[in-house]
Amino acid sequence: MKFDRPATENPIDQMKIVGQPVDRIDGPLKTTGTAPYAYEHHEAVNNPAYGYVVGSAIAKGRIRSIDVTEAERAPGVIAVVTYRNAGKLGKGKFNTANLLAGPDIQHYHQATAIVVADTFETARAAAQLIRIDYERIRGVYDVAAVKDTGVMPKTIGGGGPPDTAVGDFAGAFAAAEVQLDAMYTTPDQAHAMMEPFASTAKWDGAHLTLWTSTQMVDWTATDLALTLDIPKENVRIISPYIGGGFGGKLFLRADALLAALGARAAKRPVKLALTRPFTFNNSIHRAATIQRIRIGMTTAGKITAIAHESWSGDLAEGKPESGVAQTRLLYAGANRMTATRLAVVDLPEANAMRAPGETPGSMAIEIAMDEMAEALKLDPIAFRVMNETDVDPENPARPFSQRQLAECYRVGAERFGWDKRSATPGQLRDGRWLVGTGVAAALRKNALMRSGARVRLDQTGKITVETDMTDIGTGSYTIIAQTAAEMMGVPLDRVTVRLGDSTFPVSAGSGGQWGANCSTAGVYAACTKLRDAIAARIGFDPANARFADGRIHSAERSVPLAQAAADGEIVAEDLIEFGDLAKTHQQATFAAHFVEVGVDIATGETRIRRMLAVCAAGRILNPKSARSQVIGGMTMGAGAALMEELAVDKRLGFFVNHDLAGYEVPVHADIPHQDVIFLDETDPMSSPMKAKGVGELGICGVGAAVANAVYNATGIRVRHYPITLDKLIAHLPEMA
Ligand code: MOS
Repeated sequence: MKFDRPATENPIDQMKIVGQPVDRIDGPLKTTGTAPYAYEHHEAVNNPAYGYVVGSAIAKGRIRSIDVTEAERAPGVIAVVTYRNAGKLGKGKFNTANLLAGPDIQHYHQATAIVVADTFETARAAAQLIRIDYERIRGVYDVAAVKDTGVMPKTIGGGGPPDTAVGDFAGAFAAAEVQLDAMYTTPDQAHAMMEPFASTAKWDGAHLTLWTSTQMVDWTATDLALTLDIPKENVRIISPYIGGGFGGKLFLRADALLAALGARAAKRPVKLALTRPFTFNNSIHRAATIQRIRIGMTTAGKITAIAHESWSGDLAEGKPESGVAQTRLLYAGANRMTATRLAVVDLPEANAMRAPGETPGSMAIEIAMDEMAEALKLDPIAFRVMNETDVDPENPARPFSQRQLAECYRVGAERFGWDKRSATPGQLRDGRWLVGTGVAAALRKNALMRSGARVRLDQTGKITVETDMTDIGTGSYTIIAQTAAEMMGVPLDRVTVRLGDSTFPVSAGSGGQWGANCSTAGVYAACTKLRDAIAARIGFDPANARFADGRIHSAERSVPLAQAAADGEIVAEDLIEFGDLAKTHQQATFAAHFVEVGVDIATGETRIRRMLAVCAAGRILNPKSARSQVIGGMTMGAGAALMEELAVDKRLGFFVNHDLAGYEVPVHADIPHQDVIFLDETDPMSSPMKAKGVGELGICGVGAAVANAVYNATGIRVRHYPITLDKLIAHLPEMA
């Protein structure tokens, strides 16, 4: 199905099942610990061996020699694979560094060997016996020091050109009545998902079956085949449950490749999970950003010039983290420019994490907007609304398909009690706490990706959906079942959803918050075909057939679905493909985030007291799972604001705090109260579902709302994340 005209009325608009807050179908499996993860497909894999990965001890250089004889002789060891005996390896499209190093070393903890043994413990013990002699080369590990060597990259994360310019920024900025010119930084961050990278590999002759934890089944199948240099048809990927990805599992990683290589060498299935301390430097991370923002205004508060530049580091051939994406779209202003620069560093590979681009970018621009509002003595909301736009500011011929940001502010201000806020910072005291509130805008693009599905009607009237879509804890199983039930006119318990298998039609996968809208639109397309096939089977005119109550109805007749399939299962497959509506209309999701913090006047500790997100994101397919997505995003935003930071060893080139004791993420006690409101919205430009995504919208802007609240509480403006107490304590007022 080609989607190239705005959606008109369709069966989803009934909203009998879609749009209802039904419980997660996979909930009981998750809460009882019976959903099998990549390491746990015990029935499918007999007598597995266990893999343990060795990582490079240097960040840059070469392996001079590698001695595995002692390891190979250790009791229980079946095979040791290094670059010398791995066979010919190709390269996938998505990973920058090689997933198996040698002889060159491109980053610290790049995998140098896999040891396969009878047990995990024997594999781990034998791994300590491998002797590697390295030739170390001095690398570059301090992105701030090499920022000015940054070059314009070919592409940026999230797409779009690296640089844009409209009007005369320099002239308009110089002439502006009020100016801001400030630098902001965000640190390197880790995904820190709960389930580590894990795979189980099994070869049958030339055919490989890999149970793995991936957000994108088809990308992983493609890249694994390319890397192993075997036909893609010989690779089957199975990934039904994923314990979080956050962007870290978008691409083929070392666990999958090394499990496959280990199983081939051992002639036995191999299970492999990366240990937690290994994941931080072996996999990918979000690169630190350095951002410069300049805004020129009239004294009345109109933006006349706006510029946002972002620098970040990655390996050569990598992609920078872009901070500028939202600034291209959020505010009006006739003269504007954005620029993205990539400085080459030898740290582990940087890539997508938790709304790449807009997350760190919003953390900067939304502080800048708070600073400007204060300079102009304007309320931060009034100031933002004054600079709203209905069209893409870089391309005024392109309107937004929907843009309810001003309404998000209005509803949020009322719910949050914004009118009680003191415009002057440092005014509100609650015992030892200095209390303040902050607001920030969120914009996250609505990406459209083709997505396929197969739908079956069996002789008992049951519907089965098959697609290689994944559920990374987001609720895909549930919203896909709701979509099929609505389309086919059956109750939810008559629908079975099967996901995460490369033998199913290729879907949009889970990334960039496109999964919900695109994967359900693919199911919509397949169900439309199935409806036609059912009607044709029993001689109904498909145009006038109605599906409800487990039956197909025409004007005169009504037949149970089970009877329609009496002569055999009816199967339909289709995919949604998107035309030019994303070109003619700028499609995005919007939110206003409100945060109240308390800052301890003695210790400088910041505690979040309450959070509110008001979201406008198209049709909400399931308010319960959507709310969970948004509060998850808000929690990640709190982490980015207050605690998450990879500490870089700038001499040796690695992330030092590579475990969950040193890399802090929020826990329940850090997040006392969260509230989410969804504005009523349907977007006929986005898909037949009229939906968009919400997961990444939940994180964008939160960091700045926290920073602005800290400022309102204390009068201390922190422009360098995370806002840890050392950045506050010297500036706190004298204790009363
Ligand atoms: Mo997302 S960072 O595209 O999984």
